[in-house]
Amino acid sequence: MDAHRLAGKNIMITGAAQGMGAANAEYFAAQGANVCIGDLNLEGVQSVADRINAAGNGKAVAIQMDVTKRSDNADAVAQTVEAFGSINIALLNAGVNKPRMFMDIDEDNWDMIMNINAKGVLLGIQESARQMIAQGPMDDNPYKIIPVGSIVSRTAFLDVIPYCCSKYAVLAMIIGCAKALWEHKITVNGYAPGVVRTELWEQLDKDLVEIGMFDKEGESMDHLAANMITMKRYSYPDDVKGTAAFLCSSESDYMTGQLIMIDGGMIMQ
Ligand SMILES: NC(=O)c1ccc[n+]([C@@H]2O[C@H](COP(=O)([O-])OP(=O)(O)OC[C@H]3O[C@@H](n4cnc5c(N)ncnc54)[C@H](O)[C@@H]3O)[C@@H](O)[C@H]2O)c1
Repeated sequence: MDAHRLAGKNIMITGAAQGMGAANAEYFAAQGANVCIGDLNLEGVQSVADRINAAGNGKAVAIQMDVTKRSDNADAVAQTVEAFGSINIALLNAGVNKPRMFMDIDEDNWDMIMNINAKGVLLGIQESARQMIAQGPMDDNPYKIIPVGSIVSRTAFLDVIPYCCSKYAVLAMIIGCAKALWEHKITVNGYAPGVVRTELWEQLDKDLVEIGMFDKEGESMDHLAANMITMKRYSYPDDVKGTAAFLCSSESDYMTGQLIMIDGGMIMQ
């Protein structure tokens, strides 16, 4: 690993108290990036920041934020600038899921998922772009906004339809915002994990039993690995962080409007 690959990059990351957001924050900082990490869970995100600062390469600040609030997104950007002088990259990672069979989807389920996964990304793109535009081009490298998609940005499953809608919305924002923001030298690319063993999936596994999709806990990930993943195994945050770092690095400068699948070969296009 190159300890300087992301040196000089000031990165805001949402949803970084655990899972892929935390793993990415630690990996980026190990490569020299400074990270402003936000989450609803302040205690969790503070302990990630403490680990990063103790490791002694890139620096970290932790903040409490709710991505569904515009003011919290604006504040997260402002705190990135206050801590590190500017923002170069925004990784919009916060996301949730709550499965329901189609006829059981109610307004609360739809609103909760769409608010966090879709509106949260919209606000994150707008508020980080607002600051990037105000900064103006700072060097030869473009600014980067990286919304997190999913396999369900490209297909839908019958038991998580609002989640699929939210991640299709993320894909639409990646494509549309890439076109809208290039005049300000901002690229928009995302990545799409498949089945990743995180706290999100531990809860999803329980919920899928509750709605009758599986008989017992622990079956769902193995079932998907055996039947839907070409590589025949599910993944971990470590499988995702390399592609996330590539999208932050200057090696991806001549890319925009793309969603990269990191799913062991679930969706091939
Ligand atoms: N785990 C998977 O299999 C998988 C697959 C594809 C895509 N994804 C996506 O990857 C991203 C990260 O997923 P993960 O598995 O690491 O999840 P996770 O549950 O481990 O972590 C998500 C974090 O987001 C935070 N969060 C939730 N709502 C928030 C809000 N309103 N404001 C701020 N923070 C909030 C949570 O507190 C948590 O720390 C999500 O966007 C998810 O949809 C996950």
